[in-house]
Amino acid sequence: MEVVVLDSADAVAEYGAQRIIGLVKQNSAAVLGLATGRTPVALYKCLIRAYQQGDISFQDVITFNLDEYVGIGDDEPLSFSAFMRRELFNAIDINVENTHIPKCPEGENPFQVGEEYERSIELAGGIDLQLLGIGTNGHIGFNEPTSSLASRTRVKTLAGSTIHDNSLNTNKAGVSAELAVTMGIGTILDTRRVLLLATGDGKARAISAAVEGPVSSMCPASALQLHPKVTVVVDQAAASQL
Ligand code: GLP
Repeated sequence: MEVVVLDSADAVAEYGAQRIIGLVKQNSAAVLGLATGRTPVALYKCLIRAYQQGDISFQDVITFNLDEYVGIGDDEPLSFSAFMRRELFNAIDINVENTHIPKCPEGENPFQVGEEYERSIELAGGIDLQLLGIGTNGHIGFNEPTSSLASRTRVKTLAGSTIHDNSLNTNKAGVSAELAVTMGIGTILDTRRVLLLATGDGKARAISAAVEGPVSSMCPASALQLHPKVTVVVDQAAASQL
């Protein structure tokens, strides 16, 4: 595992963005695994800036997002589909048909969506680079502690702490903030390269467990120790317990 400690959250975003920009410049049809949450927002801003400056095009890039809430519509502001449009897709030249999110809308069989998502990743030739954040409890995607390290895309129940961290409005009709479809840990381990970003002292414990702790399903991110090409990019605060 390569661990890069930088001075600020902005530097973390810029570093991560440069990795992605470098990859897309090398391979204009790169397959990117994308993440939601507060952490990647600044990185997405850097990508948008590079696009606006004419430095990079996303026309042929293919994307697969990590996860999405069960039963949520694409246009619900809390959905990860809406998040991705708002924070990145609407501001760049990506072809919407090349973007994928593992949806399980109401009425869909939750046991089928995972397999279909895995198949589309395979058809695209696999993920070249997977961007990850980390939950305060060490989760990646929505693979909460005790998730199988070999898991594939499937529906998972969210931990109470995750629901709290994400400050979800659980009263919205039809939306279950307790369930999500997520790429599995096995799916993430199959990607060719992983870039995990974390900023702030709230992530320090999870980063220490992921990087220096034992490989254990109690800290799902520790499974990344089994991946040959992982870069963990953190600011001083998130690195403070290393
Ligand atoms: C959510 C997402 C994760 C993300 C995590 C941390 O639970 N499913 O992919 O890494 O939140 O989010 P944040 O970056 O807001 O701390």
